[in-house]
Amino acid sequence: MKVLLTGGAGYIGSHTIIEMCEAGHEVVVVDNFSNSSKKSVERVEQILGKRIPLYEADVADKEAMDRIFAEHAIDAVVHFAGLKAVGESVRKPLEYYENNLISTLVLLRAMEKAGVKKLIFSSSATVYGNPEKCPITEDSPTGNCSNPYGWTKYMIEQILFGYCVAHPEMQVILLRYFNPVGAHKSGRIGEMPNGIPNNLMPYVTQVAVGKLKELSVFGNDYPTPDGTGVRDYIHVVDLARGHVAALQYDKPGAEVFNLGTGVGYSVLDMVHTFSRENGVEVPYRIAPRREGDIAACYADPAKAERVLGWRATHTLSDMVRDSWRWQSQNPNGYEE
Ligand code: NAD
Ligand code: UFG
Repeated sequence: MKVLLTGGAGYIGSHTIIEMCEAGHEVVVVDNFSNSSKKSVERVEQILGKRIPLYEADVADKEAMDRIFAEHAIDAVVHFAGLKAVGESVRKPLEYYENNLISTLVLLRAMEKAGVKKLIFSSSATVYGNPEKCPITEDSPTGNCSNPYGWTKYMIEQILFGYCVAHPEMQVILLRYFNPVGAHKSGRIGEMPNGIPNNLMPYVTQVAVGKLKELSVFGNDYPTPDGTGVRDYIHVVDLARGHVAALQYDKPGAEVFNLGTGVGYSVLDMVHTFSRENGVEVPYRIAPRREGDIAACYADPAKAERVLGWRATHTLSDMVRDSWRWQSQNPNGYEE
């Protein structure tokens, strides 16, 4: 298949280019580089030993999107493009609603015009809000999001459900990611957050590499085995392969899948595994809870295995080793 990846220069997108090409698909990328660098795609090209058609454009730019669909016979789109920083979305809600919603609407129109019927959307476990129970199945209640970023994911899901009612020939797959971490085993591509990281893994790696002094563990009084927050960390290569599996899914309509491992690890599990596997100290202190955080969030990934034949195979040790290889070999990310 020929697949258009919006936001394909980003963290998850760049890993997905590799997995899709290795599975025999052709890939075209569009990205405005608002949160990424062209260098990620250059490195992917080096890893694959082939050129990837790359368009620098905003997905909300109608003419640019029409041109891409005119120049390539696209069979399917994976829509990664979006702003994703939770804290920033609280400070800049309009930017988030504008960017994430409008780009999706423009994309749908361009797909409609070009007759493209398959769409895979990057949703998030954040749509489950504070879950009533874990593991979380796809039919758990959604909504009740705690920030504008989460609401954009929820709203786009609703837009896509409604669109499929009106266009029953469409195949829309909503992938709800849990917590992506890790990096490609080459150590050449990985996550490159701007400024001080919000997420646990990049914070840990930046402490380990000496860029940050110590990790603040946000709360040790949650109702979890060691009191620290529990999440379902999933290796980004497993996540990327989930998209390859979703491409093969051929049923019309909108379908939701959790992409997680089904196993929850605490903040301290993560820190201790990181130190042990990599032989690097990660100084930390216990800090107050972070506003908006929940105690535990992990997936029931059985549906993806049953229907898509996909399951995560990387362990937490793989995740911490691969994250560290990327960070230690590229202390400044893609800036050489
Ligand atoms: P990322 O920021 O690395 O990648 C997103 C890419 O989209 C970036 O390259 C950015 O430049 C691009 N982009 C943003 N708006 C655009 C626009 N209007 N036009 C063109 N390009 C645009 O983020 P990621 O971690 O790779 O996440 C990919 C997707 O997965 C996002 O939609 C994100 O919300 C979602 N997601 C991520 C996580 C996570 O923890 N990383 C969890 C759940 C869901
Ligand atoms: N944590 C710390 N210290 C830090 C950073 C995080 O203790 O410096 C803790 C958090 O309190 C939480 C865990 O590590 O218990 C994971 O936090 P992350 O920020 O890495 O991830 P979240 O689960 O809070 O959020 C992530 C994405 C969201 C997405 C959500 C879906 O950032 O975009 O997963 O589950 F919506």
